[in-house]
Amino acid sequence: MSQDDTQALNINAKVTDEQVINWIKSRRSIGNLNIPAPNHAQIAAAIECAATAPDHKKLQPWRFIVTTGNARHRLGDALLTAAQDKANAEGRELSDKERTKTQNMPLRAPVIITVVTHMQEHEKVPPFEQLLSAGAAVQNLILALKAQGFSTVWRTGLLCNEPAVKAYFGVGEQDYVTAFVYTGSSVCDMPTRGDIDISALTRFES
Ligand SMILES: Cc1cc2nc3c(=O)[nH]c(=O)nc-3n(C[C@H](O)[C@H](O)[C@H](O)COP(=O)(O)O)c2cc1C
Repeated sequence: MSQDDTQALNINAKVTDEQVINWIKSRRSIGNLNIPAPNHAQIAAAIECAATAPDHKKLQPWRFIVTTGNARHRLGDALLTAAQDKANAEGRELSDKERTKTQNMPLRAPVIITVVTHMQEHEKVPPFEQLLSAGAAVQNLILALKAQGFSTVWRTGLLCNEPAVKAYFGVGEQDYVTAFVYTGSSVCDMPTRGDIDISALTRFES
């Protein structure tokens, strides 16, 4: 079968609603991430999906920073500075183990996509809506990466909104680092999720 035939078959393959729902439910966070990493086009496609998140008044109150290769060491340095500043403020010293662990955090995946808010002043769109829109963008990003065969974990950690980290990403005082989306590939089989009892979470009214 030629490549054209295969592509035509894939395009015509019908995905049922049930399959889409089960696919969404099958998403799991995976911490053990390696290469292959998404390429530039795959990352761009995922960010395009992220940017379709519900967004009141189309403010686009989010930005994406893609960190790969050696830049992960620079992010590690910023995290270490943040940890040191925090420890100083608390009147304690970081141990060597803490220093190494913190500095190496960005090496846990080949790609980290950081999602930060880009808050706008708007009389009808308060900051909390813009923050929620950023959260929706993160989820779209994660699903779009999964759709392209990659695994992710959404991390923040206690340092993500420390001044040194915000300065590294160039975000304003009023903004937030909402996610480090650690991205890569994994050979781990994640356990399937247990049943979810929505009755404890939901009230239907009519
Ligand atoms: C805003 C936010 C921040 C998170 N930060 C961390 C984190 O720093 N470290 C971590 O292990 N999990 C973090 N998580 C949780 C994981 O992303 C994940 O949702 C959780 O481990 C459950 O796994 P699951 O996604 O497979 O259900 C965070 C989740 C959210 C929504």
